[in-house]
Amino acid sequence: MSLHVVLGIETSCDETSCALVLNGREILSNIVASQDAVHAPYGGIVPELASRSHIEKIHSIVEEALKKANLSLREVDGIAVTSGPGLMGSLIVGLSYAKALAYALNIPFCGVNHLEAHLHAIFLERSLPYPFIGLLVSGGHTSLYDVRGVGDTPILGTTRDDAAGEAFDKVAKILGLGYPGGRKIDELSQMGNPAAHSFPRPFLEEENFDFSFSGLKTAVLNRVNRLEHALTDQEISDLSASFQEAVVETLLQRSLKALEKKQVQRLVVAGGVAANSRLRSVFETAGCERGIEVFFPSLKLCTDNAAMVATLGHQVLSFGRRDSWDLGAFASGR
Ligand code: KG4
Ligand code: ZN
Repeated sequence: MSLHVVLGIETSCDETSCALVLNGREILSNIVASQDAVHAPYGGIVPELASRSHIEKIHSIVEEALKKANLSLREVDGIAVTSGPGLMGSLIVGLSYAKALAYALNIPFCGVNHLEAHLHAIFLERSLPYPFIGLLVSGGHTSLYDVRGVGDTPILGTTRDDAAGEAFDKVAKILGLGYPGGRKIDELSQMGNPAAHSFPRPFLEEENFDFSFSGLKTAVLNRVNRLEHALTDQEISDLSASFQEAVVETLLQRSLKALEKKQVQRLVVAGGVAANSRLRSVFETAGCERGIEVFFPSLKLCTDNAAMVATLGHQVLSFGRRDSWDLGAFASGR
């Protein structure tokens, strides 16, 4: 049976998503339902509420994706679903739904790694050869990978504490900007001075590829506490810009080091924080100066979505891998 249309399902965190992708490349539909409004009152994701919201929405999101793609279930050739890492309750909703659908339709299904899916989102828009260095920067992860092929992505380094997106969200909370705050910091930074505060750039001198952002977040908190008054709009913008500059510079220096060590000239930046406008311009400039090709998925494909799951799933299923009905979900991993 030839594999043309793959239906992808993503429920690893707080987005319920379903996509239909043709031949691993062409997005026929990619519906993403955000739970931001559910979690905003708590200033962070509440796992129990995330699972409940997934189970309520998953069926209508799949129906919407099929309708937008103008396809019926009978025209789907395979199913790919995120099996981890992520929130266990959330993962189980998508995985169970995907298994039931594949069983009923009698078509192949596979579980894919969410992080590997982020690193492969770029294939929906560009063709590029392996190997490349992958920088994954999201709310839950900040890691560098040596991406050699599907299922062959050794990790080079990771964060020892907060993920970059988590740091953006926590600093946004400190500055009273609401949740999730990454995009807000990005917007306000455009009015701020990145040199207004000199925040730490952790680990830049060390001989490894690890990151650490929790000290940076504390440095912002201490600076805010020392100001001892309600922050003005300009102060918020300056703090945002200075914090953002420290994150972007740290991510860039680590990535350049990995490219040099592995003697690779291609870098793919993926995950929610890859939507950051300062990060994009700084990385692009550095790439041009050094003859390195830097690839960013478009904004919609940077954040959690099922199209990236479907494109990776297409590759996995095309290799002939099939997962069995007892495939489990995993909460943590690379
Ligand atoms: O990949 P993602 O959608 O979800 C996972 O964490 O898996 O990433 C979400 C993260 C959040 O922390 C959010 O604040 C951050 O990405 N983010 C941004 C921007 N847009 C989203 N951070 C900085 N600048 C942005 N423009
Ligand atoms: Zn993600």
